[in-house]
This record gives sequence, structure tokens and C-alpha cells, in this order.
Amino acid sequence: MSHPQPGQVAQATYGYIVSFHDLHPTPAAFREEVIAGLRRPHKAIPAKFFYDRRGSALFDEICQLDEYYLTRIETTLLEQHAPDIAALFGDEVLLIEYGSGSGRKTRLLLECLPTLAAYVPVDISKEHLLAAATEIAQAYPHLRVTPVCADYTREMDFPDFNEFHYRRRAVFFPGSSIGNFTPEKAEMFLRQAGEVAGRQGLLLIGIDLKKDPVVIDAAYNDSRGVTAEFNRNLLRRINTELGADFDLRLFEHRAFYDPIHGRVEMHLVSVQPQTVHIGDETFTFAAGETIHTENSYKYELDVFQAMAARAGWTTRAVWQDEQHYFAVCLFTKP
Ligand code: AVI
Repeated sequence: MSHPQPGQVAQATYGYIVSFHDLHPTPAAFREEVIAGLRRPHKAIPAKFFYDRRGSALFDEICQLDEYYLTRIETTLLEQHAPDIAALFGDEVLLIEYGSGSGRKTRLLLECLPTLAAYVPVDISKEHLLAAATEIAQAYPHLRVTPVCADYTREMDFPDFNEFHYRRRAVFFPGSSIGNFTPEKAEMFLRQAGEVAGRQGLLLIGIDLKKDPVVIDAAYNDSRGVTAEFNRNLLRRINTELGADFDLRLFEHRAFYDPIHGRVEMHLVSVQPQTVHIGDETFTFAAGETIHTENSYKYELDVFQAMAARAGWTTRAVWQDEQHYFAVCLFTKP
């Protein structure tokens, strides 16, 4: 299967899929961001680069771990409340899902939205996006599916979708992926999501709430080491795609909850002094020096609602589990 070039649209290439919009970042952009991140005084690589084919598969595995309560609770909330959500959506909605992943949560919504105008999954991981979109399109043959491969953490020229007839747009952003932005970027993202959603638009979003740090720490330090593998896979990806020579055995996974910032920090720790090359670029690491690979912010519900309000959203409904570990919120635009 040949992929279209960035920015191109391929019509009806993937079975039941209506069209595929490829706005995927180029390998040069990946290289540039990695090198810039490793040149910083505190080395860091953006978390969006975790999601190559293997990284996406490892993340799916994380979502099934007992310790990773986020997926379990959010899925249960969606199972319980999908009919209420669908009633609030109404008919002929264009559903845009950011970071669409495996699509399991989407199906819970689709089951209750028989009049959906179209489904637009947006993800940075091309293979994963196309596989998930194809599965959805095959399971719902009458649904128009239009995947968009893009880095949604940046501003992008969103397709206009004029080919579809719909009453309103709904943005679905599950999994507490908003937690991977700093609060400033999260607010910007919410504002952009408002522009994408347009008048009378909707935002259905999953938020991981603040809780006992022991519970949070366990979710990011699972006993099977899947999260450690997910973290280290970033280096494997840089080796493969950018011709680097990271020795994966010399970097350890570290994740901890920082109550001051209200976030989990994930790092790769250099276990000894070492030098690494990416092509002709050289980077030195002291023993114990880290690459900061991810932040995962946890919110108090009212703090998140206030942020969404600043970005132009009004709270329409909130669903939470009994322990108040996780919230699914529905916001609307005027
Ligand atoms: C995708 N994102 C919401 C996950 C999180 O919990 O921040 C990514 C992840 N990192 C480690 N485990 C899962």
C-alpha cells in the first residue's frame, strides 16, 4: 500500500475509508526536534515521538495493565454514559478524535451514534491510524471515515470537511492525553480545539485527576516493565530512523509524581558517562544525567474547568468514577 505525500489527499484508497489526509511531520522535522532537545541544558525529547508502530503497540499494552487505571476507568465511564453523551451530541455530528489510538473507546460512542455524519481520527502514528481507521470502517460500513495523519500538538491547517453534511462538530480527546501538554499549551490546545469545533461545537475530553501519589506512581512503573520498554523504545526509534547509536542497556526508565507541578515526569537515565552519536552530531551524558521524555499532568476538576472556560468552553456535563480518579467532561461552545 503506497502512502500519499505530506499534504496530499488520497481518495478511497483504504477499503471503506473515504479519504486520507497526510500531514505527517517529515523525518527532517523529527531529526531537528530530537537534536534541539538533546542540545538543551536539561536534555528532553517531545513525548509525541513515542508513537512509532512499536511505541503505539506498547502504549496499547500499557492501557491493558492493571496498574494503568486511566484506561480502565475512562472506558467504564464511556460504557456507562455513552447513551447520555449521544443524547447531548444529537444527530448528524462530525466526530473528530485526536490521538485516536486503537479505537476501542470510539466504538463505545459509535454504537450510540447511528446518525454520525463522519468520523475523523487524527493521529501522528500513520500505520496505527490507518489500521485502526480501517477496522472502524469495516465494522461500520455505512460510516464515512476520514483519517488525518498529523501532529496535533502543533497548529495545523485542518481539512475543511465541506464534503460532509453535518449539524455540528464534536472533538473527542480521550485518555487524558491533554495531560501530556504543559498547562499553558493545554489551554492553547483547548482554544484551537474550539476553532476546529466551530459554532455550537462540542468537546468530550478525558482528564486524569489528582489522587494518592502511590496510585499514580504505580501506573507509570508497572511491574511487567511495559512502561519502561515504551520509554526506551524512543531511543530504539531514534537509532533506526536517525542513524543513532544509543545503547538501550545504558539507559534506565524513571517515572515519578512531582506534587509541586502536579505531574508525572518520565525520564531515561544514563547509567554511566557515555557519548552518543546521531549521524555526525555528538552528545555526551554524565552518569545519572537524564533525558526528560514526558510530562503527564494531573488536574483538579475545577482547575481544569476554569482553564477550559478561559479557552471559551462551557461545562455541559461531567462523569466521574466513585473514587474521583478520572473525569470525562463534555464542554460546549456558544
Ligand atoms: C498518552 N498519555 C496520556 C499517556 C499518559 O499517561 O501520559 C502516555 C503514557 N506514558 C506512560 N504511560 C502512558
